Amino acid sequence: MAQNMSRNNKENNTGGAEDKDFEFIDQTLRPSKWDEYIGQENIKKNLQILLDAAKERNHPPEHLLFYGPPGLGKTTLAHLIAKETSSQMRSTSGPAIEKVGDLASILTNLSPGDILFIDEIHRLNKSIEEVLYPAMESRSLDIIIGKGPSARTIQLELPAFTLIGATTRVAMLSSPLRSRFSGGVFRLEFYNPDEIIQIIKRSANILGVSLSRVAAESIAERSRFTPRTANYLLKRARDYAQIQKRDIDESIVSEAFNLLGVDTAGLNASDRSLLLTIAKKFAGGPVGLNTLAASLSEEEATIEEFNEPYLLQIGFVERTPRGRTLTKHAYKHLGLDFPKEKQEKLL
Ligand SMILES: Nc1ncnc2c1ncn2[C@@H]1O[C@H](COP(=O)(O)OP(=O)(O)O)[C@@H](O)[C@H]1O
Ligand SMILES: [Mg+2]
Repeated sequence: MAQNMSRNNKENNTGGAEDKDFEFIDQTLRPSKWDEYIGQENIKKNLQILLDAAKERNHPPEHLLFYGPPGLGKTTLAHLIAKETSSQMRSTSGPAIEKVGDLASILTNLSPGDILFIDEIHRLNKSIEEVLYPAMESRSLDIIIGKGPSARTIQLELPAFTLIGATTRVAMLSSPLRSRFSGGVFRLEFYNPDEIIQIIKRSANILGVSLSRVAAESIAERSRFTPRTANYLLKRARDYAQIQKRDIDESIVSEAFNLLGVDTAGLNASDRSLLLTIAKKFAGGPVGLNTLAASLSEEEATIEEFNEPYLLQIGFVERTPRGRTLTKHAYKHLGLDFPKEKQEKLL
């Protein structure tokens, strides 16, 4: 179960208990005020300027794109912006917009000043993107009526709106689309341990559970520097403590997470099997993503989206032009000897 722990519930909606957990976490624990939104200081500062300037001009903010691994706070930012600008937010997602007509109907139903949030925007298909360009640039919607020689285009003017896009895979966005986010393209960073601890404490408060500083640190350590995961682990620790009729202390945390298969570095079973595969089947790499994916019977996209960002962040894996390689740290964590040949290459 912990295998898919950090997976975005929308993308992998299996209807399992975990998805319900994520839904619960996202809704109950989502910050509703700016000062509850911890970290990402640089993004917050830039957004503040952008929003203030837009307010002064009495105009909706320009289009914004947020990208980064799942669970770092992209959707939350969109909600906060809607709140700050007192706008109505309409939410949809790339895969939900199947036909040009779907987008046309969303756009024509917007009111002036609305925020249109498109999650997983990298999954919009090309013909839909092309309708989006003029809508973003000049608020015009070009609709083709009829077919063949008698077809004609009519142009509708749209109300002033702000598009906020979110994606875990910014490289999949076409450059024309990316360039139309005139307000800015913001990359969300992993959080530092202090920020994660603050988030855990806030969530513990909301959930009405008490936990020691050491227990909070111990959850933070395994949180992959990701708020959604931190909250998920807190909930698991709470459940375990409740069943055991004990308080959440360090030993509860480690027992609960051992059961879940989450280790002290926050790695789950799928991370570990990825690392072990590189170590054992590919002599530590380099190995190409497609070969690795085939060997794990996993999708390339899943590896890129869910496993790799964190493994790169903590320096367990390196990406080279020839493929992925395992670092010394990863060998140490796995309890394996760093191969001699590699040692020599480093000298
Ligand atoms: N900066 C933050 N401060 C506090 N909690 C956060 C923050 N960012 C995210 N969270 C928590 O993590 C959950 C997931 O965030 P979300 O915005 O849905 O992530 P994303 O859209 O990037 O996948 C939120 O519901 C909230 O509980
Ligand atoms: Mg989201």
